[in-house]
Amino acid sequence: MVKRIGVLTSGGDAPGMNAAIRAVTRVALNSGIEVFGIYDGYKGMVEGYIEPLTKASVGEIIDRGGTILGSARLPEFKDVEVRSKAVTQLKKRGIEAVVVIGGDGSYRGALALTEMGINCIGLPGTIDNDIVCTDYTIGFDTALTTIVEAIDKLRDTSNSHHRCSIVEVMGNRCGDLALWSGIACGAEIVITSDTGFEESEVLERLRDLDLIKKKRHAIVVISEKITDVHQFAKKVSLNTGFSGRATILGHVQRGGAPTPSDRILASRMGEKAVDLLMQGIGGQCISIRENQIVSVPIQEALVMPRTSRKPLQNLFERLV
Ligand code: F6P
Repeated sequence: MVKRIGVLTSGGDAPGMNAAIRAVTRVALNSGIEVFGIYDGYKGMVEGYIEPLTKASVGEIIDRGGTILGSARLPEFKDVEVRSKAVTQLKKRGIEAVVVIGGDGSYRGALALTEMGINCIGLPGTIDNDIVCTDYTIGFDTALTTIVEAIDKLRDTSNSHHRCSIVEVMGNRCGDLALWSGIACGAEIVITSDTGFEESEVLERLRDLDLIKKKRHAIVVISEKITDVHQFAKKVSLNTGFSGRATILGHVQRGGAPTPSDRILASRMGEKAVDLLMQGIGGQCISIRENQIVSVPIQEALVMPRTSRKPLQNLFERLV
């Protein structure tokens, strides 16, 4: 059976990563497996920034945002020479397997390492919810909670001033944070890569909200990377009865204490990852589907089609 494993966090950090590190470490130690923390993602693996973890060293972190191991993006990890250096560092320390907590870019590295003889298991750690094989990623619920709190506050002031608040949220190319928060906040309009963005149509809808529906405010939630929200806010002021104000929530969405739901998800997934490594299995990633923790081959996960968000989009439209 595997005797020594490593754990790392990679890509953009996400609340709940610490809960996942803690779960992997404690489940493994309680099963007689030594655990090493690999710092700063694959960069630390290549450079040998690797230290043993104890039960105590992962104490008092379940409620902390960020990642105690640090994170980084290392595009060079796709080069086999770079990965070979990483494998040498792991072998030098007798580390036979690794749990990789990160997004789909990190999964590619985990798959490549598995193919080089180091069994790796991927855990979905990203606020974006853009890993298609899992219903939810670790960090999504916390980021959603942060967004909802912010929009609730924006609504108060928008209402006082007859304004339209345009709120840009993260998600990379995935609209889930925008759509879920739009539903949770009772927003008037949600714009994502799934809905598309027709500026004139949105302005027309805002005019209707003002003139016909007599709304005192309008909340538009928009995914990042779609349009320049400050420019758009100016157009709202010029072309509708609302004065437009844009708010880019930015990296505040990535921080903060993880919600109980993210802590529990991370703990369940961490346990499953260790169980798979104990069975000598690698090249898989952990998912939650219909509240069951399951594993999926990374190769399949990377090419899986995304589940349609149409039902939730329709729900949103029916609530406006
Ligand atoms: O993947 C997480 C994420 O926060 C995305 O939502 C966002 O597009 C990106 O990372 C921002 O990256 P960085 O922290 O490098 O600016």
